[in-house]
Amino acid sequence: MNSFHEDIIKKVSSILNAGKYIVAFTGAGISAESGIPPFRGQDGLWNKYDPVNLNLNYYLSNPRKAWPVIYDIFYHHFTDTLPNQGHTILARWEKNKFLKTIITQNIDNLHQLAGSSSVIPFHGNARQLLCTKCNNLLTDLKYLNKNQIPVCQKCGGLLKPDFVFFGEEIPASVLNSAFEEAAKADVFFVIGTSGEVGPANQLPQTAKRNGAVIIEINLDKSLYTNNITDYFLQGKSAFLLPLLDSFLIQT
Ligand code: APR
Repeated sequence: MNSFHEDIIKKVSSILNAGKYIVAFTGAGISAESGIPPFRGQDGLWNKYDPVNLNLNYYLSNPRKAWPVIYDIFYHHFTDTLPNQGHTILARWEKNKFLKTIITQNIDNLHQLAGSSSVIPFHGNARQLLCTKCNNLLTDLKYLNKNQIPVCQKCGGLLKPDFVFFGEEIPASVLNSAFEEAAKADVFFVIGTSGEVGPANQLPQTAKRNGAVIIEINLDKSLYTNNITDYFLQGKSAFLLPLLDSFLIQT
């Protein structure tokens, strides 16, 4: 590790050790080492698939066109992905009462699989589908098939993955709890997110406005880096989180 990294790692660790209310805000980058490509950047999913398929009205009116794409992105490749070191470190920090909450934009359920329980799924969760007619939940994904649009076993209505589509409102309870947590944080950890999508990208601003120190881990600069980030750790989260962890005093 070069000297620059050593100094900033020690400084960030001392800030974390002194933190009273640490909140982590994660994006697709934290799942990259689990084999889930991010949405943007050179191998981003939106370079390969048309995001229109994730538009709510488009899905509801063209499920036969949209469903095979949604299946390919979120069910074909990702169903058996596992949490990486970044997820497991954050889960351990929660168990050690070191980290209060994770607000995640990710719908891959990997924080929960890693053992985190205080998780606000800001964009919902792909691991379950909701009936658009009777609100019945499907959690057993083995029945999903790329060539058959998913229908409710109770009423025959169209099922929709339980994540927030483009053009869809974020549930008020989720929005409020996320912004409350961001406002309470004295250390706000921004991990693996480009800052491109609102209203999620207002969470770091809210934390900053309420006096939090913004620590960012990202492979590249994001819209936060030269704007509100106080400490920028450039690199892979699956490497940097364990490195930081080794400097922390955890009871
Ligand atoms: N470690 C840390 N950061 C990484 C890594 C890594 N191994 N790999 C990629 N990154 C960074 C990229 O540099 C980028 O800044 O993760 C970020 C991923 O950005 P996006 O792909 O835009 O993902 P995200 O910010 O989570 O997108 C927000 O957009 O499409 C919608 O609903 C979707 O929740 C998603 C939202």
